[in-house]
Amino acid sequence: TQPLKVALLGCGVVGSAVARQLTDDAEDLAARVGAPLELIGVAVRDASQPRPESGVTPDLFTTDADSLVTRADLVVELMGGEEPARSLLLRAIEHGAGVVTANKALLGTDGPTLYAAADERGVDLSFEASVAGAIPLLRPLRESLAGDDVQRVMGIVNGTTNFILDKMDRTGAALADVLAEAQQLGYAEADPTADVEGYDAQAKAAILASLAFHTRVATGDVHCEGIMGVTAEDIKDARKIGMVIKLLAICDRTPDGVSARVHPTLVPRSHPLASVHDAFNAVFLDTALAGELMFYGRGAGARPTASAVLGDLVQAARHRIDGGHGPRESAYAELPILPIART
Ligand code: HSE
Repeated sequence: TQPLKVALLGCGVVGSAVARQLTDDAEDLAARVGAPLELIGVAVRDASQPRPESGVTPDLFTTDADSLVTRADLVVELMGGEEPARSLLLRAIEHGAGVVTANKALLGTDGPTLYAAADERGVDLSFEASVAGAIPLLRPLRESLAGDDVQRVMGIVNGTTNFILDKMDRTGAALADVLAEAQQLGYAEADPTADVEGYDAQAKAAILASLAFHTRVATGDVHCEGIMGVTAEDIKDARKIGMVIKLLAICDRTPDGVSARVHPTLVPRSHPLASVHDAFNAVFLDTALAGELMFYGRGAGARPTASAVLGDLVQAARHRIDGGHGPRESAYAELPILPIART
């Protein structure tokens, strides 16, 4: 079978992990898709910078993202920021490529432009990795719950600030001291202001509210207060009354309309959200038919986020081939079925 040509835009923490997995797991991915996924290029700002962790051969790095996207069947955008990501994705869509992005900043401000372009061209646009890292959350909202009415989305959607608040709670440390650690672990945005000021969670809340309520909520529609004002003293006081401080995103459908907000919130220690530690995320949904649903997992970091990106990529690749229905037998041909254990 002809390989599907994959272009990667950006090779930072997540991009490197995606590239690495495309190489290391090439055979399995090909079996699951039904065709090999061939990485034809990685667009970066400085092609001479070595990126050994990505496993990408130096000849594949290019600074010419414009021409790279026109040669690809599938484009994965992990550069972040609004431009040039928006233009490159629109160009890729125009050329008929399926696109995968983790770009919450772009989706939060200009998602509808991208959705419309992809719909018009009839190509996949998927962005599972843009909210809550590894947690499968957007696909359930878009697909599994499409027949239900979501009334509330509430949870922790920024790993960096959860890591910081959790560490402050456990050790009594000051915010500034723990931020550097979150950066080293690859959780924080390139500019961590986006995390601590709440902008990252604000964009994610906009994406969640748009999908949950089938409407267009932009980042600017979401009230936003970050964690910069939270002191070690506040956390100690909260502890005294059996509470913990979490940065929550809360999106509600009310009789008057949709409201979305992000702010530090006092959470009782008995609530499941209080037990979300490190850079984990957790999101609760309240729906008319299903009732309460809870999603939990790693919300940041290279490999967890790569999991969501690759899931979207495999799905988009399957669509390029034949519609991608059901598991492919070829993927499991080598895997023995173990006999049923007898007691
Ligand atoms: N900086 C983000 C976070 C990365 O900490 O959640 C994942 O979107």
